[in-house]
Amino acid sequence: MKTYAIALIPGDGIGPDVTEAAWAVIEAAGKGSGFALNGTRFPWSCAFHKETGAMMPADGIKTLEKFDAILLGAVGWPAEVPDALSLHGLLLPIRKGFTQYANVRPHRLLPGIDGPLKRTEFDILCIRENTEGEYSGAGGRVHQGTSDEVAVETAVFTRTGVERILRFGFDQARKRRGKLVSVTKSNAQKHSMVFWDEVTQLVATDYPDVETTSYHVDALAARMVMAPESLDVVVASNLFGDILTDLGAAIQGGLGFAASANVNPDRSAPSMFEPVHGSAPDIAHLGIANPIAAIWSGAMMLEHLGEADAAARVMAALEATTSRGIGTIPGKERTGAITAAVLSHLS
Ligand code: NAD
Ligand code: IPM
Ligand code: MN
Repeated sequence: MKTYAIALIPGDGIGPDVTEAAWAVIEAAGKGSGFALNGTRFPWSCAFHKETGAMMPADGIKTLEKFDAILLGAVGWPAEVPDALSLHGLLLPIRKGFTQYANVRPHRLLPGIDGPLKRTEFDILCIRENTEGEYSGAGGRVHQGTSDEVAVETAVFTRTGVERILRFGFDQARKRRGKLVSVTKSNAQKHSMVFWDEVTQLVATDYPDVETTSYHVDALAARMVMAPESLDVVVASNLFGDILTDLGAAIQGGLGFAASANVNPDRSAPSMFEPVHGSAPDIAHLGIANPIAAIWSGAMMLEHLGEADAAARVMAALEATTSRGIGTIPGKERTGAITAAVLSHLS
């Protein structure tokens, strides 16, 4: 039987709960479609940091290299490990180390969910640059603790990085409704975002069939609320994409519904699948985390592995669940009950 090797990194807070939920559903989907998932769990997390002094072992990236894909829950437990340390010690090095340059985040409503906008007709695919930009990590602090203190955090935009994320977005637009929005802020950021706009225009000439529009990020944030149905594919820099996709999550009903794929499009290294949300310390250990975002991310993983039928069956099971009003109201059902409902609808 065809078997895929999957690395599971449940992480912190609600991460383990939603990872186990997603794992149960995609394993069952695999069985129904004639393939197996062989999972290896890695305890890398803030708890691991407390024990060992690091978020993952020094050879962690090397260890992950041989897997077909990675399923991650959430990383971060700020009460014990500073966020800048935990995220730069685990999640961000995986995204960068495996050149997972396209962070793909779908925003649409599952049936049975109204969302705060009380409108259902939007279907946005956000493509977030995932390896550079405002997350380059370049910078530093001098004269710390004094009144002369300086903190510099340099956004880095390379032609390679900007061009490849835009091409990825244009390819997605071609497969969808043929519309691409490039997110900019070239009225204020006169170097990097003017460059981003120029690359957008250049790449657009290779996609004359795609309708291309540039919006400033502030205007786009308003548009996502006022006219989300006007948007198809949205391509944004790392930080703009981060912020816009929490907004996307909000209009689709909340963070419990927003899925994501950190894709290495060249397949030179494993891709990683994880919900958009974090470890949710405020509800951790209550057993009420919504597993839908993680399960949807699992479906994106199956799709990436080439198992489109299994992925479609997981999505159909999610839709059957929410259309019956299960998992639609935060905190109403427990994580296990929502997962059981999804499993019961898996054909
Ligand atoms: P968060 O996404 O963890 O939580 C924001 C709010 O959404 C909270 O009220 C939380 O209860 C709610 N929420 C999130 N996921 C939910 C779910 N599945 N079901 C129901 N409610 C849910 O964001 P935060 O509070 O800013 O961050 C908490 C920690 O997670 C921090 O350490 C942060 O750095 C980290 N974080 C990690 C990731 C990741 O690993 N990919 C993403 C975002 C935040
Ligand atoms: C996300 C998260 C991460 C990000 C954090 C935890 C570093 O917010 O995946 O959206 O900003 O990319
Ligand atoms: Mn985020």
